[in-house]
Amino acid sequence: MALPEYFLQELESRSEISEIISSYVSPLRRRGRNLVGLCPFHSEKTPSFNVYLDSNSYYCFGCSAGGGVVNFVMRIENLDYIEAVKFLAQRAGMALPEDSYDDSSSRLRVRIYEANRAAAKFFHFALYEPQGKAALDYLHGRGLSDGTIKHFGLGFAPSDRFALGNALERQGFKPDEIVAANLAYMSKSGTGLGGDRFQNRVMFPIIDLRGNVIAFGGRILTDEKPKYLNTNDTLVFKKSNNLYSLNNAKKFNAKTDNGSLILCEGYMDVISLNQAGFQNAVASLGTALTSEHANLIKRYADEVYICYDSDEAGKKATQRSIPILRSSGIKVKVVEIPTGKDPDEYIKAHGDNGQAAFKNVLSSALNDLEYRLHLLRGKYDLNTNEGVVDYLSSAAEVLAGLDSPIEQDKYSSVLAEEFGVQKDAVLLQVKEKSRKINRKTRRDEIKEMQKSITTQVAPINSRQAVISRAQKAETCVLAYFIENPDKFAFLQNKLPPTAFASDFNRRLYSYLLQKAERGENAVLSFQGDFTMQECSEISRLRAIFRVDIIKESTFFEYVDVMLRQAQKPTQSDVAGA
Ligand code: UTP
Ligand code: MN
Repeated sequence: MALPEYFLQELESRSEISEIISSYVSPLRRRGRNLVGLCPFHSEKTPSFNVYLDSNSYYCFGCSAGGGVVNFVMRIENLDYIEAVKFLAQRAGMALPEDSYDDSSSRLRVRIYEANRAAAKFFHFALYEPQGKAALDYLHGRGLSDGTIKHFGLGFAPSDRFALGNALERQGFKPDEIVAANLAYMSKSGTGLGGDRFQNRVMFPIIDLRGNVIAFGGRILTDEKPKYLNTNDTLVFKKSNNLYSLNNAKKFNAKTDNGSLILCEGYMDVISLNQAGFQNAVASLGTALTSEHANLIKRYADEVYICYDSDEAGKKATQRSIPILRSSGIKVKVVEIPTGKDPDEYIKAHGDNGQAAFKNVLSSALNDLEYRLHLLRGKYDLNTNEGVVDYLSSAAEVLAGLDSPIEQDKYSSVLAEEFGVQKDAVLLQVKEKSRKINRKTRRDEIKEMQKSITTQVAPINSRQAVISRAQKAETCVLAYFIENPDKFAFLQNKLPPTAFASDFNRRLYSYLLQKAERGENAVLSFQGDFTMQECSEISRLRAIFRVDIIKESTFFEYVDVMLRQAQKPTQSDVAGA
């Protein structure tokens, strides 16, 4: 990794971690010398994501993600090291030093983007050729205008098995690159292309927020299965991490500032909604909604209308998605499409009134609480007193799970009024159940916290199942040395790398010695020289020993512990004797 230190130094000083992170995590609150917030990398209700201002780094005690500012950008923007450096450099108005980096995987990523773009052009062109007639008729038949087809870059993958592969090879793409983009398969012999991935399908390019074509969905024109075929995960695409048409939705939200998204099931729903004027529609790509999706959404909208099909599968998916969205801090509304249709069919059924009709549907959406109560009602016979009592009791349970006492109060009134009982009676039951839940959560939280501090062993150091005193000593010595490179001469003399029991710790220690010997700042180069997971481990040990704030005397004590440990015969010495 050849980025010069002066450059990295400058980049760090112009990329203040609190500024970078606060555009993804809000709110970030001050706690002591650090900032804390809800982790953007996993779902949580109580903040365990720490930002350390003095070392320009972060660490999450919940999911063990951690690192410096470059590493943060890598994780959250899904970039490789050099792309993240470029991202920050651009933001800071700095030019990259020339010829500093030429990594083969980052070159391959660029080639995948290029191959995807060329493929999208090829498919779009083919749609308007004679061979694409059936596909074009199909799209027109589903009510799409040529403007919409162009806007979404829709296309057609010909039925000739080698159509795309050949075309890309003629444009200079190597078989390896085409296969890495998952646009074709390698032949059995491995010497050339063995056939295109998409044949005889209507093609939907998937475009990321920077305008790159990252993947495709392809719909078959016949009754064959699978109906939709998507690009498998590649170097540039992870389906659990991307949403169809988020690029359009982001632009639309930036213009209108209404801050909501419409989450649908399929490509066609999104496109129909767009054509009817709802450009804030998105869809997950043939997978269930994940917390990664939710975190992504949270960056562009505060509110989501879930608008899945109204069949059983759609209802199930809705119930699954609600807590995922809520735990990312997103307000949820549930849209029930009358007449049991999906948004595409509904809009089409209303012809020129599609937009107005769908606006009505949106405005009658239930919030997620109302939706849950609505589903619950269906389970009781509300014509009997017994049914009402049972319903109210389980409804109280639902209300008890809410964080907001105002919401609890409000919906207790609504229920009381509806069934002619005293509001105080409902509220009393809600509060009682809520106290029970709180006691349990509090106990769980304490357990969680204790686990993360005392026994959490990151995967990299997992060969030791339990944190022994020796392991703690290693971690402490490393953490102290990172912060105090002037201990170099002492450590060089006294503590050989072989005194470290874990491979990773030994490697990190040797690295720190080498850096200190050259007078270089190790902290600046961790992110280029260690993997993402290893950076998390480095942040973990720095974070843990920040909690204790290590004294110099503690450091010396732990060096001694390690030396004594190293002199003890090991199990294998004993066995061999
Ligand atoms: P649907 O079967 O509801 O598709 O699947 P749709 O969007 O209504 O399709 P049309 O209207 O018949 O064209 C919803 C979504 O699930 C994924 C696709 O993303 C699709 O848009 N899916 C469905 C697959 O990935 N594979 C399949 O075989 C089917
Ligand atoms: Mn459909």
